[in-house]
Amino acid sequence: MGTYVVTGAASGMGAEVTQRLVDSGQTVIGVDLAGTDVTADLSTSAGRADAVGQVLERVDGPLDGVVLAAGVGPKRGRERAIVEVNVLGVTEFVTALRPRLAAAGNAKVVVFGSNSTTSTPLVPRGAIRRLVGGDTEGAARILRRRGPLAGPASYAASKIAVARWVRRRAVADEWAGAGIRMNVIAPGPVMTPLLQGQLASSTSSQVRSFPVPIREFGTPEQLGEWVMTMLSPAADFMVGSVVTVDGGTEALLRPDDW
Ligand code: NAI
Repeated sequence: MGTYVVTGAASGMGAEVTQRLVDSGQTVIGVDLAGTDVTADLSTSAGRADAVGQVLERVDGPLDGVVLAAGVGPKRGRERAIVEVNVLGVTEFVTALRPRLAAAGNAKVVVFGSNSTTSTPLVPRGAIRRLVGGDTEGAARILRRRGPLAGPASYAASKIAVARWVRRRAVADEWAGAGIRMNVIAPGPVMTPLLQGQLASSTSSQVRSFPVPIREFGTPEQLGEWVMTMLSPAADFMVGSVVTVDGGTEALLRPDDW
């Protein structure tokens, strides 16, 4: 049986994936702000280093997979936290664990992106560029200028940047060449505490009017099943892919953008 790390393990889709892995007999080290094995704050570089340190204290040998589900939703005023957790909480964290993944020989990494990457208009390119380069402060400064749209713009920018980072790194010798299969899952709206928070906020009407052709939100169970597939041997030939699972929004908004 294998050993896996799941960030955002205390809630929503991270909790769902954790449960599925545990039920299938795997050892899981969960990372979150509270309520799981490793308590750490992925929004600061000290917190991320602490998270890595605590994980390595618990794992002696190779790591079979890492699932990066910790995330901050599109809230105005939280621009810096959004980009720190959603980008560096993935890139710095998983890079620090890369040697342990390489040691497994056929490890899998699943990063949570979002279909907001293709459904959010006018995401500032300068912010995305800065985020891909790790400049969260510069990116947040640009994103705050979007005023009332700063929350959604920051969220989309963070998820675009992290997907680009994954696609660039996934194919490299240190990743694909070391047997690591790194991919992104890009959900549409899924009924978790993150979405519930948005539905209870002042942006509720925008969230409710978001077009989902199947006319319902996704469930953590549906997404959990996809992540398990992306952690399985079914993903041995899958590298740098962004898998959209969104009830049809992306196809509706960009049918010919392919
Ligand atoms: P959730 O809010 O239920 O779970 C996210 C977890 O991340 C929480 O347990 C939270 O404590 C943790 N987290 C947040 N900030 C943290 C920090 N500074 N340090 C450590 N942990 C932190 O959210 P959900 O919906 O399960 O989201 C999972 C992933 O899926 C996120 O990356 C989210 O952006 C993404 N996503 C969610 C969608 C949705 O509609 N629910 C849609 C598209 C993407």
